[in-house]
Amino acid sequence: MSDPKAYPLEPSADEMRTMLEQVTNRVIEHIDSLPAQPASYDTDGREVANSFAETLPEMGTDLHTLLDRIFEEAVPHSFNTAGPGYLAYIPGGGVFPSAVADLIANAVNRYVGVWVAAPALVQIELNVVRWFCEIVGYGKGSGGILTSGGSLSNLTAIVAARRERLGDDLAGGVIYTSDQAHHSVRKSAVLAGFPESAVRQIETNERQEIRIDHLRAAIAEDRAAGRVPFLIVGSAGTTNTGAVDDLNGLADLAEQHQLWLHVDGAYGGFFAMTERGRSAMAGLERADSLTLDPHKGLFLPYGTGALLVRDESALRRAHETFADYMPVMQHDPDFVDFCDLSAELSRDFRGLRIWLPVKLFGIDAFRASLDEKLDLARWVTARIREVPELEIVTEPRLSLVSFRIRGDVGDDATRALLSAINARQNVYMTGTMVDRRFAIRICVLSFRTHMDRMQLCIDDIRAALSEVVRGH
Ligand SMILES: Cc1ncc(COP(=O)(O)O)c(C=O)c1O
Repeated sequence: MSDPKAYPLEPSADEMRTMLEQVTNRVIEHIDSLPAQPASYDTDGREVANSFAETLPEMGTDLHTLLDRIFEEAVPHSFNTAGPGYLAYIPGGGVFPSAVADLIANAVNRYVGVWVAAPALVQIELNVVRWFCEIVGYGKGSGGILTSGGSLSNLTAIVAARRERLGDDLAGGVIYTSDQAHHSVRKSAVLAGFPESAVRQIETNERQEIRIDHLRAAIAEDRAAGRVPFLIVGSAGTTNTGAVDDLNGLADLAEQHQLWLHVDGAYGGFFAMTERGRSAMAGLERADSLTLDPHKGLFLPYGTGALLVRDESALRRAHETFADYMPVMQHDPDFVDFCDLSAELSRDFRGLRIWLPVKLFGIDAFRASLDEKLDLARWVTARIREVPELEIVTEPRLSLVSFRIRGDVGDDATRALLSAINARQNVYMTGTMVDRRFAIRICVLSFRTHMDRMQLCIDDIRAALSEVVRGH
């Protein structure tokens, strides 16, 4: 055993135990108090951020003091993204066993970038990827990688599509998506070497789904002008309103024109585990590549994304390379070197963060929770409909509904309603523009959100409405 005084980077067994005990107590206290915590913070963010700015510390500080700083001074000044009242943007998750898995993964600190360095651990991550393929209906030959999130998955998909369809000559390549697609698609296209003008944002219909007729016309026009259409990016659950494009229609068109079809299911993808989700996203399995975001629809902590491809070898062709100092890579299709399928070499062992909770709870627990979210979104929609002053703007296709104040009152009234709801601190929602008018969004996706919180949500909507519209 090393001397902790001589080597402070190596605490003794007792010191490690004490550390973990202190952290365990704080974490459990924090999780227990989540439902009672305010849904957002109400102080000036700049003030708290400035209070944390510091110079490089030469000397150490005791853990107790540091935990106080984190749990008492930093965490409370944040959106409560892990709490049951978080209905904003696309909610994240944070199931507890993932935190335990991260502790294990970081403590053992094994290397999963190449198969030979940790074959069983790589297999654990590969299992996770293959379970995801099964969930979306991908068959033999499919595969994928875990990423840090949906944005990196979309980027990887564009890189794979570019390699498969354009080779080394990107000139004239055109990407088609809808005006409702996540902004990471445009960003990824630019990162992948295309000018922004190479991204066509096709109009959507009254359900915010891509207009296939417009898309067909745009492809024809680009072809006629000598450009090279190569990729369609569809949405399985848009961030704005939860719209799902006609995926079968997109797959037909992509097949007809030999274009790559990528579907961004960062928000919606995991609903494929439920019957209603599967029928809303019919055709999902026909995509050449698919973005899933376990840190959204599988309730995992932030930093967990996935990209699946129908043909794993496409991912390999886009990323495989060689160096003398690297170990020998696997050629047996049962074994995978993740560095051959992705831009990353060294990285965290993400697989354990998914594997542990899925093994512990079984996938049905996740499916049931997703079904509950679908029910809650429908329930809250029905309650909003009962309020005469409100109107539903977009129906829940999955678990996202939007609404506004009825009539010609202008956007300011709906914005004021949103502020009044959020000021109550039980739920936190955000707004967006739908057909150039402001709407409030409710996205139900936290595994901690249940009927009691939705009841509170509707009570707060009614109370806030009285305050804003009726003035009492
Ligand atoms: C539909 C969609 N695609 C992509 C992303 C980007 O994912 P991430 O934030 O994990 O990078 C999001 C994020 O909300 C999303 O909703």
